Order: sequence, then structure tokens, then C-alpha cells
Amino acid sequence: MANLTRDFFIALSNNELLNKSAKKWGYRLGAEQFVAGTDIDSVIKTVKRLNDKGISCTVDNLGEFVTEKSESTAAKEKIISVIERIHEEQVSCHISVKLTQLGLDIDESFCLDNMREIVGTANKYDIFINIDTEDYHHYAPTIRVLDELLQDFDNVGTVIQSYFYHAETDMDKYKDVRLRIVKGAYKESEEVAFQSKEEIDENFLKLAKKRLKCNTFTSIATHDHHIIQEIKQFAAEEGINKNNFEFQMLYGFRTEMQEQLANEGYLFCTYLPFGDDWYGYFMRRLAERPQNINLILKDKLYT
Ligand code: FDA
Repeated sequence: MANLTRDFFIALSNNELLNKSAKKWGYRLGAEQFVAGTDIDSVIKTVKRLNDKGISCTVDNLGEFVTEKSESTAAKEKIISVIERIHEEQVSCHISVKLTQLGLDIDESFCLDNMREIVGTANKYDIFINIDTEDYHHYAPTIRVLDELLQDFDNVGTVIQSYFYHAETDMDKYKDVRLRIVKGAYKESEEVAFQSKEEIDENFLKLAKKRLKCNTFTSIATHDHHIIQEIKQFAAEEGINKNNFEFQMLYGFRTEMQEQLANEGYLFCTYLPFGDDWYGYFMRRLAERPQNINLILKDKLYT
């Protein structure tokens, strides 16, 4: 049943027509709880509010199903404007990008050029750029773009999805690169990825622990309190420096726990999506946790 619900929401997230229509609807279905506004001013305001609580941020300009170069160019310019604002306002914040938004499906070298501009601008201001990982089909080209960028820049890194069998090999390959460890958000076949929650959780913990011992900055991105607890215990037992890692969660999820971790002295970073292309992102969140629907309904009924 859980898998059916997950597949249902993943299928909705992949529906191009619904993704495109939703941009015209404005936020619906409670999406505003998980998205920090449509424009740069609102996202910077939220970053400042979270920074005041000791929480840093990573900002994601939402965008899916990009098929025209003009859309990618507009996205690149918007991301560069966010970078400029982060620098001007001196807020504690970096950027997360998805390469499909920057033209990966249109032309890989065009996408690489866009990324060179983004990472180059951020490099001047010492701002980190994280390349989010998408589905398996986009994985190899994403890694090719990353490898090109790493030849010239040290302010770029990516995400290891622990449901993939190849995750450990890639994590080891990038032992000197800042990485985020996640479980993985897309529907993948058993040819390439673990399917059961137990196996994925086990691999997540194995990778996170191995990575924490290697001293390169790592983001542990999960809302799973069992995993967070085990990582905290492991870090304490192994004497891992608290400045070498951070916990990350998505905006709008487990807000109290986010603040609590920051108050306990852990580095904490909130992933802050913004923009009008909210639909695919939001459906993937429902796929991960259908109970989010209850949260939304409760919110709509009682507030
Ligand atoms: P999971 O959904 O497995 O939940 C485990 C348990 O935690 C639940 O059973 C429940 O007990 C508890 N729990 C979870 N959410 C809760 C809530 N809201 N309230 C109360 N309890 C809750 N994926 C990807 O493929 N590429 C990427 O680049 C990224 N990037 C990314 C960044 C950040 C900051 C995060 C947090 C996540 C991603 N992801 C991602 C998504 C990731 O792969 C994964 O799909 C989700 O984080 C869901 O898995 P979790 O580990 O959070 O817990």
C-alpha cells in the first residue's frame, strides 16, 4: 500500500502538463508551507529569519521540465541574482541547483557553460554551489558536468543518493569534495537501486559514518530521527569535529527538531525552495510521506 501511494505521487510529480499548469495556479494544496515565496525578496527574508535562529540555508530556485534554452538562461540569471543578494546581505546561505533546469536535457555543453557562470560568480564571494541529484537517467551526465567544474573550482559539490548500489563508489571518488548524503527521492528500478526502506536506511548509515571519518565537510540530509540519533551518537563516540558536518532538512518539515539541533550546537542547514514551479517538488514530498497530507488538512481546518 505504501509503495502504491509513493508510486502514485511520483507519477503525479512526473506529469509535465500538471507541472506546467500549476505555475499558473499560484500555490495550492498547502504548498506554501514548504516553499519560501515566489521572489528573491521573500526568500532572503526567510533566510534572515532562520539565520537569527542559528540556522544556515541552501536556496533552490524551483524549476522542472525545462525544454527551451531561454528558460535555462532565465533560471541561470535568477540564480546569479540570488548569489549577488546573498553576498550583499552577508547572510549565511549557499545555493542548490538542478542541472535539468540549467539545460542538461537540451545540450550538455550549454548546461556546463551555465554552471561555469553560476559557480564562477559564487566563487568570487566564497559561496558554495550544490548540484542536487535527480533520477538515474540524469545521473551520469550530472557527474560529467560536476567533474568538469571540479577541474576549475573548489566551491561545488553534489549529493549521494544512498538507494543506489553505486553510491559508495561515488562517495569514495569524491572524498575531497563537499557532499550531501540523502536516501534518494525518485522511483528507481531494482537493477540500480535498493528498494526496501531497511536496505536504504542501512546503506545511508554506512555511508554517512564512513564519510564522517574522512574529515571533508558533509551534510547529513534526512528527517529520520532514528538516523539523526545514531549519527549524533556515532559522532560523539568517534570524536568527530562538529564543524565537519551539518544536518539538513527541508523547509516546513520538523521545524522544532531543526531548531533543537541548532540549539544543541550542531551545524544545521535548511533547504529553502522558492519560485512558482512548486508542483513537482511538492508531489515528491507527498510521495515520501503521505502523512504530509494530514498535516496540510489539519492546517487548513484549524488555522
Ligand atoms: P523518510 O521519509 O525515510 O522518513 C523516515 C522516518 O522519519 C519516518 O518513518 C518518520 O518516522 C520520520 N519522519 C520523516 N519525515 C517526518 C515529518 N515530516 N514529521 C515527522 N516524522 C517524520 N533526494 C534526491 O534524490 N536528490 C537530492 O538532491 C535531494 N536533496 C535533499 C536535500 C535535503 C535537505 C533533504 C532533507 C532531502 C533531499 N532529498 C534529495 C530527498 C531525500 O532523498 C529523501 O527522499 C527525503 O529526505 C525523505 O527521506 P528521509 O530520510 O527524510 O526520511
